[in-house]
Formats: sequence, structure tokens, C-alpha cells
Amino acid sequence: MIIDDIKRLKQEKNAVILAHYYQNMDVCSVADYVGDSFELSKKAAETKADIIVFCGVRFMAESAKILSPYKKVLLPVKDAGCPMADMIDVSNLRALKAVYPRASVVCYVNSSAEVKAESDICCTSSNALRVVESLVNDEIIFIPDKHLGRYVAAHFPDKHFVFIDGYCPIHAQVTARDIKHLKARHPDAAVAVHPECPAEVVALADYVGSTTGIISYATLSEHNEIIIGTEQSIITRLNLSCPEKKFYPAVSDFICPDMKKTTLEELYNSLETESYEIKLSDEIIEKASGCMTKMLSI
Ligand code: 13P
Ligand code: SF4
Repeated sequence: MIIDDIKRLKQEKNAVILAHYYQNMDVCSVADYVGDSFELSKKAAETKADIIVFCGVRFMAESAKILSPYKKVLLPVKDAGCPMADMIDVSNLRALKAVYPRASVVCYVNSSAEVKAESDICCTSSNALRVVESLVNDEIIFIPDKHLGRYVAAHFPDKHFVFIDGYCPIHAQVTARDIKHLKARHPDAAVAVHPECPAEVVALADYVGSTTGIISYATLSEHNEIIIGTEQSIITRLNLSCPEKKFYPAVSDFICPDMKKTTLEELYNSLETESYEIKLSDEIIEKASGCMTKMLSI
């Protein structure tokens, strides 16, 4: 019944519901679009709806606001955040820029609006390589994810990269030992991981990519068994879409607690009371939108 109420409210208010793949399945079932960070950013930029309800974490809803500043953007759970995005703030970034004044700043989309406003170009896990390739500068400050940064840097030996100690606490827990252990038990299994995993894990992978990339790889791969190095929701999805294949989580409890905070009740309340509205100053939106639209144009 709550699902019918959500659909009714959505229609009455001309709202669109965007949900990240890591959201609870029931929330995804009422969403208009489910995708990875890049796909959802594009949907947010293109939508004709008056209200965007972003079922995800704060940086995603902020990104939607930056790309669609005249729309009302709602985050159903006020404190749904990303610990990695909180690992750098504007003052840390300004200090880093003062040390490397010549460097271009590439910020992962998992960052605050204020940090994006201080950066030259944004990237997601699906386009980070293309974004860095587009830069003529050979000195790059890559923030906040040191693991994604190192994965990218390995493809550009002629460029000099500067990182901070930022990481995703969920993906960073996977070790090479975990993968080797699973490979010993399932020798025919391929390994697909998110680039937020540490370099030693990425080195053992057959495929490295965003959540959408991992889903496509696992679906189309000739392998019938795949070790999955990203959030558990992806395995839940793959089990439904490819019941003939076997998927093994790289670690048990591979769950992003912030992504799981949104429930159908929170989503309903958000639509009904139009909360929690993302508010950003015009100055931040203007500066951050340069950084994001540059990414989208690549
Ligand atoms: P994607 O860019 O693959 O959606 O990943 C976002 C994220 O937060 C992964 O932890
Ligand atoms: Fe942030 Fe990691 Fe959760 Fe993604 S999985 S939202 S990077 S904490």
C-alpha cells in the first residue's frame, strides 16, 4: 500500500525518484531510474520533473542539485552520508593546492559540493580514466579516494599524482588474502571489483569498474562463477537476473550502512513533507557546476 501512496504522490508532485544500485531493493522497485553515480548524475541533469528525490547519500543529492539548480532536490534521510566524502574539506584542499599550485584538481564525485567548487573537474568510477586522459596537465591532485586515484595513476605513468588518505571504509576492507582464499575455493571464478578496493585487490581482478560496469561484466561474462568486490546489493541483483550463475561476495557483510538507511517509509515521508531539501548557495552551485558539467561533456 505504501508503494501505491508513493506512486500517487510522485505523480501529484511531478517528482522523479532516482535510486543508487546500493539502495534497498524495495526502494529501487519504486524508483524511476536505478543506476550508478554517473548514470544518475546524467538523469538529474536531464529530468523535466519539478522534484528530484534522491535515494542515495548526500553527495549524490548535492550533485543532482548542482546539475539541476532550479529543481527541488530531496534526500529522504538527512544523515545518509558517505564517510569517504567527509575525508576532505575545503580547507584541506586549499592547503594542498597551495603546495601544488600548478596541479589540476580531479575530485571523485564522492565529495561535498564545497570541495567540487574548489576542484577543476569531477569524475566517477566509470569515467575517471577518460577524465584524467582529457587533461593536458601532468600534475594532478586526485581526491579523496586514494585507491581509485592509484588505480587511475597506474594508467598514466607520465603524470604525477598527489593523493590524500581518503578511502571507502566498505571497499577498503577487502584484502588480497580474501580474494586468494575465494579463488582457492572456486578456482573457475572470475574476479570483478570496484576501483575503490585497494591496489592489491585490483591487481588480482579480471575486471575493474563501476557498479554498472560490474553488473554488465558479470552478466555478459562467459564465466559462470564470479567473485564480486562491491556492495552486496549488486549480488542480490545479479542473483535475480542471472539465476544460472554463482556470485560470491569478496567479504561477508559487504554493506554500506548509509546506503541502507533509506526505507519506503522514509521515501514516502520525504515526498509528502518535501524533506530534506538540499540547499546550496548560488556561488557554490556556480563553481561546482563547472566542475561537474566538464565531466559530463567528456
Ligand atoms: P558508482 O560510481 O559505481 O556508483 O559507485 C559509487 C559508490 O559510492 C561506490 O561506493
Ligand atoms: Fe561512500 Fe563507500 Fe558507501 Fe560508496 S560504499 S557511499 S564510497 S561509504
